[in-house]
Amino acid sequence: MSPSRATGEGAFRALWDTLLPIGRDPGTGGYLRYAWSATDLACREWFTAQAAARGLAVETDRNGNLWAWLGDPAATDRAEEAGDVGDAVVTGSHLDSVPYGGAYDGPLGIVCGLLALDALRERGARPVRPIGLAAFVEEEGSRFGVACLGSRLLTGSLSPDRARALRDRDGVTLAEAMAGAGADPAALGPELDRLRRVAAFVELHVEQGRGLAELGAPVGVAGAIWPHGRWRFDFTGEGNHAGTTRMSDRRDPLLTLAHTVLAANDEARRRGAHATVGRVSAQPNATNAIAAHASAWLDARAADEDTLRALVAAVQARAGEHAEMDRTAVSVTEESATPAVGFDPGLRDRLVKALGSEALGSEALGSEALGSAPVLPTGAGHDAGVLSAHVPAAMLFVRNPTGVSHSPAEHATDADCAAGVAALADVLEELACR
Ligand code: HGY
Ligand code: MN
Ligand code: MN
Repeated sequence: MSPSRATGEGAFRALWDTLLPIGRDPGTGGYLRYAWSATDLACREWFTAQAAARGLAVETDRNGNLWAWLGDPAATDRAEEAGDVGDAVVTGSHLDSVPYGGAYDGPLGIVCGLLALDALRERGARPVRPIGLAAFVEEEGSRFGVACLGSRLLTGSLSPDRARALRDRDGVTLAEAMAGAGADPAALGPELDRLRRVAAFVELHVEQGRGLAELGAPVGVAGAIWPHGRWRFDFTGEGNHAGTTRMSDRRDPLLTLAHTVLAANDEARRRGAHATVGRVSAQPNATNAIAAHASAWLDARAADEDTLRALVAAVQARAGEHAEMDRTAVSVTEESATPAVGFDPGLRDRLVKALGSEALGSEALGSEALGSAPVLPTGAGHDAGVLSAHVPAAMLFVRNPTGVSHSPAEHATDADCAAGVAALADVLEELACR
């Protein structure tokens, strides 16, 4: 389909530039978009204004997720009364970022969703079922520590009580942050009736890797998400003076932490898995004091559950051995775990067909160029992964030339983003207009 106005680079850049400045750190160019912060509220206002400008009805669900609707979603309730599953087609992603993250991770799915709706209108396509655009809260878990917070609450895979008590690095609870933003934390909870309205969820996302760049394709389709999770390692030693304490007398938790970081790297390499410690803390965190306590957050991911569990167990065992040698103590807390996701094969292949090529599927972390739309898995988690346990879900990827993500250097070209808009419009037309 030749690029129409809405799927052209100019339309993408024009809309993209309206969101770009919100939450951008001028020093690094990275983004600081955290749930229920003033920046988040600015992003919500942007979403609501763009949706309203398109005549979409906007609602905020009990967990703070935003939904913009073309067509009457209540109509699908009537479908339910007839005993059918709802027939709404929903696309969307998230507006929050990792600290100093890139511009595309999350927001690209929202901007392309708005433009894909413009393209449907331009084509004169007539949706025969409601189309929704969703923006999920705290997908990155950057503020409250649990990834996909909004979609996990929506699906009931995170308890509202646990969520309300989650604290940010300043000790502010989610409940307090929501109340401060004018939302009601008492309302948190699953919305299974809303999920029943959804016949298909499709998330467009910048690829966080170089698969499409190596295959020379601007757009691809997701096959699977690696199982992954986050474990907090807490180390306890004995705070003391850096200058007067003999090395042999020390019980330094940061020494055990350092060995644990090396062990995580080593154990991941042995298994072809991924292990990262990107966040640490120390108390009192003073240059001339031996720490009393320290914490390290392990992000671990692997191609299958057994490998993931074996990796985490091995790191935990080696942390314990070093704690013994260092006369410190270590405890491990699982903060979030996401099982392997295999996206709905029927929906996946429908997407690939809508994009004009046959899917052969993909194995492990390999991928096969399949005409114009390769199917490739990812090690990154997404709201589509959480939703896939409840509704047929699929993902579109837009090429990331360097593969870099969770960094201000994250980038996609306007041309590829416009190709993403056209692909999403084709998919929405296939799923909602026939
Ligand atoms: O961490 C992830 O995989 C995702 O970007 N939240
Ligand atoms: Mn991310
Ligand atoms: Mn993301």
